[in-house]
Amino acid sequence: MTVYEVKNKIEELKKQKDICILAHSYESRDIIEVADFVGDSYKLSVDASKVKNKNIVFAGVHFMAQTAKMLSPDKHVYMPNTEAGCRMAEQMDTDTLAGMKAAEPDRLVVAYINTTAELKTLCDVCVTSSSAVRIVKGLKEKKILFIPDCNLGSFVQKACPDKDIKLFNGGCPAHAVVTRDEAVKAKADHPNALLLVHPECRAEVTELADYVGSTSGIMDFAKKSDNKEFIIGTEMSIAEHLQFECPDKRFYLLSKNIICPNMKLTTLMDVYRICDDIDTDNAQDREILMSDELISKAKVCIDKMIQLGG
Ligand code: 13P
Ligand code: SF4
Repeated sequence: MTVYEVKNKIEELKKQKDICILAHSYESRDIIEVADFVGDSYKLSVDASKVKNKNIVFAGVHFMAQTAKMLSPDKHVYMPNTEAGCRMAEQMDTDTLAGMKAAEPDRLVVAYINTTAELKTLCDVCVTSSSAVRIVKGLKEKKILFIPDCNLGSFVQKACPDKDIKLFNGGCPAHAVVTRDEAVKAKADHPNALLLVHPECRAEVTELADYVGSTSGIMDFAKKSDNKEFIIGTEMSIAEHLQFECPDKRFYLLSKNIICPNMKLTTLMDVYRICDDIDTDNAQDREILMSDELISKAKVCIDKMIQLGG
């Protein structure tokens, strides 16, 4: 089959089997083109909760599909490739967090949404990369344990100097590889470009940025800006998608190393296969199954985020 034929078949299967496809913006271009919704992880889960389709296919990483299931417990949520986990979300287990909580029980646990549902059951408030600063600023509690990303955590720490924020030493291996030298060089190579950076990058990089924000934040900024050139400091697919959407602007990579191998595990053929398998027993191995108890316990910190305007 050609790519064109595969895409047409996916479109037919979507209608036949009542499927809505979600794709995180770090997915490849061919997957983005068959998706009904594209964006950052939390926005996609909210989008999925609003559609009427009974089947959701989430092209992204495991915690994102879990979040979609938590917000749509009555829908069937599938991952096209179950090997796709988030390397940051897998860095902290429940025993480690339980130990940290026991050592300092007076700290409120603020969790980046890039955490497993199991870990979320032990957390008080969830945040996304776009809401982290706003939510932490608005908390009445001063003593906080921020998990798992120490780079997003230190970005929040800087923006909330009145808080006592303890960090866990986790982070995104893809974003944390970028160095200050690469940022300085990219700015020197492209003096007219604005540097847009994800807060999962190290402080030495975010300090040099013209804008720091989530993947959707970076995309919105670039689309709305009058500037014509941008250096993109997040997963390299974002530069490609922006170049398609804004052909009159120029997008440069901050680093050739910001690539999330797990986001790239899912292929268009994986998406086709799960759509083809849905409504048969073959799809069971890719369905996200969570007990009602896990959903209700893990959702507490997400509900708190929603209540705080996240
Ligand atoms: P966003 O919520 O900004 O899409 O971030 C998700 C992610 O995994 C970034 O690495
Ligand atoms: Fe996880 Fe990093 Fe990949 Fe985002 S880019 S999904 S944080 S490993």
